[in-house]
Amino acid sequence: MKSLTVFGCGNMASALVRGIFETNRDLKISTYTPTKTRATELANVVSGIVLDSLDEIPHTDAYLIACKPQQFDELSENLKLKLPPESFVISIMAGVPTSVIKAKLGAEKLVRVMPNTPTLVGEGISLMYFNESITVSEKEGLTKLFSDTSKVYTFSDEEMIEKLSGLTASGPAYVFEIARIVAAIAENYGVDKDSSNEMAKQLLFGSSKMMSTSEFNPEELREQVTSKNGITYEALKVFQNEGLEPLFSKAIGSAYKRAKELGK
Ligand SMILES: NC(=O)c1ccc[n+]([C@@H]2O[C@H](COP(=O)([O-])OP(=O)(O)OC[C@H]3O[C@@H](n4cnc5c(N)ncnc54)[C@H](OP(=O)(O)O)[C@@H]3O)[C@@H](O)[C@H]2O)c1
Repeated sequence: MKSLTVFGCGNMASALVRGIFETNRDLKISTYTPTKTRATELANVVSGIVLDSLDEIPHTDAYLIACKPQQFDELSENLKLKLPPESFVISIMAGVPTSVIKAKLGAEKLVRVMPNTPTLVGEGISLMYFNESITVSEKEGLTKLFSDTSKVYTFSDEEMIEKLSGLTASGPAYVFEIARIVAAIAENYGVDKDSSNEMAKQLLFGSSKMMSTSEFNPEELREQVTSKNGITYEALKVFQNEGLEPLFSKAIGSAYKRAKELGK
């Protein structure tokens, strides 16, 4: 791929496009946002060109749809039937299926990507789905584009994107929430704010590093820290008795339900 137009340059698109640019320095990138501010910010980082309006859409190999699902109606009204049929339309919108994107844009070659923000540091997860108009070699090229900054998981059933978005795309928020809780508890015990935050970050960083380099799975690693009737055992018993796992599953189920609502 040689050229890309980005519609919507918020938190996720900026992380993703910056990551892609790092390993594809020749990629010609055009950016668009209604207020121009964030399109300009992103263009400055990726040597891109900012579009003043949607009156003239550049002819590029791919178009990244990165506005919020609620903003897509307005965007698609401006883009309908204007995108070259041979170009890829890559959507990162949560919950909006390719059938809806096809109906609203009149485009053929559709790709869903569900990234997450650790893409910015080259450690993301991207869930991918390709519609029937994408060839095997095109799939390989597109997968490569995202695998430079994330581990890619491809699904032939698009519904899996909806099911897993609340787990992997939203997942960093849950990890940050755990870090926030750890820091808050440390602070309650009298540790100063800066040290509390540092302690929480180091706890998650060290544990993640250990997990990613260990031959053991997460459950085995947990057991290695848990002596029978010790202090970790006592805390884990509370998590189990209070239903941490069903609570987590319920939250992810709720995210899935919301993804389905967003697509309507
Ligand atoms: N955040 C995540 O971790 C994450 C993960 C996976 C997928 N996603 C998906 O990524 C998309 C963007 O999320 P975000 O968190 O990056 O949102 P965000 O920070 O609010 O960014 C939305 C961007 O869309 C632009 N926009 C608004 N209306 C538009 C229109 N009519 N045409 C073109 N662009 C328009 C906004 O422009 P202005 O700057 O002018 O307001 C802004 O740059 C969503 O669909 C979300 O489901 C997000």
